[in-house]
Amino acid sequence: MRLEDNLAKILIPSDRLQARIYELGAQVSRDYGDLRPLLVCVLKGGVMFLSDLSRAMNIPHELDFMAISSYGGKRVESSGVVRIILDLTSNIENRHVLVVEDIVDTGHTLNYMVDILNTRNPASLKICALLNKPARRDKDIQLDYVGFDIPNEFVVGYGLDFDELYRNLPYIGVLKPEMYS
Ligand code: IMP
Repeated sequence: MRLEDNLAKILIPSDRLQARIYELGAQVSRDYGDLRPLLVCVLKGGVMFLSDLSRAMNIPHELDFMAISSYGGKRVESSGVVRIILDLTSNIENRHVLVVEDIVDTGHTLNYMVDILNTRNPASLKICALLNKPARRDKDIQLDYVGFDIPNEFVVGYGLDFDELYRNLPYIGVLKPEMYS
């Protein structure tokens, strides 16, 4: 099976992704300077973005990982029911935390994460999302860094999956609607 055959189109090609991530890395580096931020990757979707963003940064920083359930199985709609599957290994009290997310859709997942992380008293908590789908936002969340605003389409690639596949594509593509309808 060729995963590419199930795509309606490529929305963001690899070179545009990389160029924007390079800019974000420079901006984050300027903003944090010597604060030694902790980048928190939201698994699994954020893993490609985290690894490229980290390499685009030129300041000392740490990495940690968290997994949160959102969509189950083949579904393309958020259930609104969110829970922690894997927690951080670091103590974030008095740390400057930057949450690195693949995509913000309704905002439920991030809203839940931000609430939990804030109870742990970080020195600061900011959000860096590669993709933002403003059309579907339910929760009012401030995104401090955004790679791209995208239309309300189901996208895959560069960490984002459908039924656990497509994460390895080096670009962001739109899945053919007949794949999930
Ligand atoms: P939210 O809670 O609705 O903001 O959903 C956020 C999570 O849903 C993301 O971290 C993704 O895992 C997943 N998600 C939302 N939109 C898409 C999409 O277009 N493609 C793949 N996954 C998505």
